[in-house]
Amino acid sequence: MTHAAPSPLAARRSGPLRGRVRVPGDKSISHRALIFGALTVGETRISGLLEGEDVSNTGKAMRALGATVERTGDGAWRAHGVGVGGFRQPHQVLDFGNSGTGCRLVMGAVAGCPVTATFDGDASLRKRPMKRILDPVALIGAHAVDLAEGGRLPITLAGARDPIPIVYRTPVPSAQIKSAVLLAGLAAPGETTVIEAEASRDHTERLLAHFGAEVKVEAEGVAGRKITLKGEPELTPAVVAVPADPSSAAFPMVAALLVPGSEVILTDVMTNPLRTGLITTLREMGADIETLDVRNDGGEAMADFRVRASALHGVEVPAARAPSMIDEYPVLAVAASFAEGTTIMRGLKELRVKESDRLAAVADGLRANGVAVEIDGDDLIVHGKGRAAGGGTVATHMDHRIAMAFLVMGLASGKPVGIDDAAFIATSFPDFVPMMRALGADLG
Ligand code: S3P
Repeated sequence: MTHAAPSPLAARRSGPLRGRVRVPGDKSISHRALIFGALTVGETRISGLLEGEDVSNTGKAMRALGATVERTGDGAWRAHGVGVGGFRQPHQVLDFGNSGTGCRLVMGAVAGCPVTATFDGDASLRKRPMKRILDPVALIGAHAVDLAEGGRLPITLAGARDPIPIVYRTPVPSAQIKSAVLLAGLAAPGETTVIEAEASRDHTERLLAHFGAEVKVEAEGVAGRKITLKGEPELTPAVVAVPADPSSAAFPMVAALLVPGSEVILTDVMTNPLRTGLITTLREMGADIETLDVRNDGGEAMADFRVRASALHGVEVPAARAPSMIDEYPVLAVAASFAEGTTIMRGLKELRVKESDRLAAVADGLRANGVAVEIDGDDLIVHGKGRAAGGGTVATHMDHRIAMAFLVMGLASGKPVGIDDAAFIATSFPDFVPMMRALGADLG
């Protein structure tokens, strides 16, 4: 996806936000539902799919690899797959746009098939490390035929003719690395095992089991997991209902906490404990977030949340919590600016290799809006004063979450907050601006 001209946007101090909204479907599950559907013979039906650019690029890649992927209604999709190991040789470059998840997961899936595919993406994705995927898939028998300097995109990957089952310890807690190895291991005979020192989001394991694969999950050490997949399963078509994305819900949630007088209900939000670190942290800061209705209908658990404007105070967020809220630090840093006292967010090394260097982008954005902030090694320290001056324009660096986080800031700061480009919001939350306006946000 190319975004020709940047589209700047500003957020202004708003009256109380009120209403009930369902943010779009979870991005992680949406990518996986399409990929698993494409590896399954028969019809997979998906409801609530996130119809953003990132997931749309994964759908296009699945088509290029031989699957049928069709939209049948609002968020309703149907996939007819090729079977495990059955991808066909694509005739075009697989362009993942802005999406590290789509690119890395599909690299894993291709690594287990005897095809050669070229992976590419936009300027942001071309900067991101891919060696973390190329290393394990090389052990499985795939190899990069061509790659840019530093192991970056564009990369042409030759999948393994005879994939080898491996035991792999992820070097960093990353669901993308874990998922790439498991997807490659699907086509390998015998057991593929991934060991992670800290548990990362487990949607791949859950969906694999949902599609009929044999997956064993065991505890590893204090906070880790060992996941073992039995290779060459016959995946069975499944029905997947995608719950609302907690990483997208984070933006209206923090906005409702910061804008005085607000009361917002967020419905159907996924409450998988490996994704709810932000809610835990905000509650520690004094946030009034009420859980209204918890459901678990066999898939992922979800709940509705009532969020009321709250006076927040600074806290220390332990490094061990980072995997369960890795995408939420930009908006947490905004919340911390409006808290009284210092918030220390520890262990954020991985934030440097997201859609942008989020540690630097957050610190620069906060400073531009009069907030005192420090980066100390891998820790982010925000000195909250109960309010933010605003008045700055934030460089978003092709990063949707930087864009949305600073628009949230502008809704409660003294002067408006501008962002240089709102276009990338469409990668994960295409309706963000109209949905926030419907709640009462002054965005324009
Ligand atoms: C994701 C994993 C995380 C996260 C990303 C989505 C996934 O990345 O930041 O937005 O769906 O597996 P890492 O695995 O690199 O931590």
